[in-house]
Amino acid sequence: MLIAAALARIGEHVERSGAMTSETANARLEQANEVRAIWALGDYDRFARDMVWEVGAALVEACGIEPGQRVLDVAAGTGNTALRAAERGARVVASDLTPESLARGREAARAAGLELDWVEADAQSLPFADGAFDVVMSSFGAMWAPDHQAVAGELLRVCRPGGTVGMANFTPEGLISDFLAVFAPYLPPPPPGSLSPALWGSEEHARGLFGDRAATLNLTRREYVEQSPGGPEAYRDYYKETFGPAVALYASLAGDPDRTAALDRDFLAFATRANEGTDEAAAYRYEYLVVVARKG
Ligand SMILES: C[S@@+](CC[C@H](N)C(=O)[O-])C[C@H]1O[C@@H](n2cnc3c(N)ncnc32)[C@H](O)[C@@H]1O
Repeated sequence: MLIAAALARIGEHVERSGAMTSETANARLEQANEVRAIWALGDYDRFARDMVWEVGAALVEACGIEPGQRVLDVAAGTGNTALRAAERGARVVASDLTPESLARGREAARAAGLELDWVEADAQSLPFADGAFDVVMSSFGAMWAPDHQAVAGELLRVCRPGGTVGMANFTPEGLISDFLAVFAPYLPPPPPGSLSPALWGSEEHARGLFGDRAATLNLTRREYVEQSPGGPEAYRDYYKETFGPAVALYASLAGDPDRTAALDRDFLAFATRANEGTDEAAAYRYEYLVVVARKG
């Protein structure tokens, strides 16, 4: 979510309505390639299972997934939410920009005896027909795409009338903002006027994006806790090893030992001050907003 956060802002200048210009299309392509390169690094499947796996189950529960429903998981990663929907008997399509993650999800599904479709797709431009799904979901996924209005429009478009759009999005008041602030000084500045991904966790922003197109909109704040059995330093090192955006950022600083050391210090300072556990067993509480919109 580090470089991804910056990436999320790249291309935010694209026009919010009307036909896509070739400039926009090129910006999207470039951004998609960067997203793929970043999330293929590290070990996202391990990270997701250790850190955010409960959120997929919570979102599936909030959306009330039932057997036989046609379900789309957008920016599905390795299938956190998609696999849970399939376990409930839904017919699931898991989509994401990163083929390496889709491949890991496919392996997990096979091992569990579940059948899903795994499709490479940009959340801002989904390759599915209008109204193709009963439920469209995204856990900590579509919120990273830069064009918020395009994402909301696509989630609603591919959902049938009367169907459900559900999202789990980090809140701007939660720990994610402190987390992202650690990395901001080491990233290129976002383009002027760009929107933070964490805005997706603001009730006001969600109402603005979905409000007038949803028959009902339920917004509930929840929390989950990331555990680091080895303490704050182990938390930092775990991110450096598994989490693609962190791996990418450190790689970008590889020729600069001073900045690498400074980032190491800043990351550890964050991990130490945000720790709600002990020095030996650290714990990090993240807040997120569950958005459940019924399409009118
Ligand atoms: C934090 S991971 C979340 C994955 C999964 N939903 C989960 O809960 O574990 C973010 C995912 O968003 C994907 N992603 C980022 N931007 C995207 C975009 N514009 N379209 C589709 N996927 C995108 C990345 O490839 C990555 O898999």
